[in-house]
Amino acid sequence: LARGVTEPDLAGRHVVISAGGTREPLDPVRYLGNRSSGKQGYALARTAVARGARVTLIEANTGLPDPAGADVVRVGTAVQLREAVLKAAADADVVVMAAAVADFRPAAYAPGKIKKKDGEEAPAVPLVRNPDILAEVAAERARPGQLVVGFAAETDNVLANGRAKLRRKGCDLLVVNEVGERKTFGSEENEAVVLGADGTETPVPYGPKEALADTVWDLVSGRLREM
Ligand code: CTP
Ligand code: CA
Repeated sequence: LARGVTEPDLAGRHVVISAGGTREPLDPVRYLGNRSSGKQGYALARTAVARGARVTLIEANTGLPDPAGADVVRVGTAVQLREAVLKAAADADVVVMAAAVADFRPAAYAPGKIKKKDGEEAPAVPLVRNPDILAEVAAERARPGQLVVGFAAETDNVLANGRAKLRRKGCDLLVVNEVGERKTFGSEENEAVVLGADGTETPVPYGPKEALADTVWDLVSGRLREM
């Protein structure tokens, strides 16, 4: 069992976790992407399995090996991620959106490789908004009492931005971490504050991503027990 956990407190629960970062194709060889490694989402999956949950891990472009005991669904784009999350959320007790979802995608996909020509201006790439999966899952609550958890990486006014984002998204918990030069992306460690819609604030000191994952599950399992 996970660190400090003596009981499988998520036994009988179905948890859905998204991990990684979406890639939005522009042509057959190019995409818009982000730097999410997927490690935090995988740490959430491993610790949830250790605490007895049935885990559906929806991963986008991580290249990481499947965690033992989790059902893994592979997606590429934000639109595919939305489909997979909504499907898995139908009977989920908890949905955790740890994936970095591209806010925009190229408005058009060029079926052939985009070529440059001498003397031609650089082309503009029109973008369109992607769906907000977290806000949709939180608004829908496919199951009564379903808990919805989001993640946010902020560079400035971390807590104020986090509080506003928690309200905007309508989720129950928002894990906020500060990103900077060598913080968070690709690293094995993380430091965060978990904000609750009920006003709680749980600081998580700098440490392994498993420790942050276990704090999230502690908060989730406490809330599931109260219902
Ligand atoms: N998220 C999502 N769908 C999107 C964008 C974000 O589900 N289209 C989720 C992420 O998985 C994360 C949370 O929303 O759990 C916060 O993501 P973030 O990028 O911080 O929020 P945004 O609303 O996109 O705000 P910003 O303009 O700061 O990027
Ligand atoms: Ca965003």
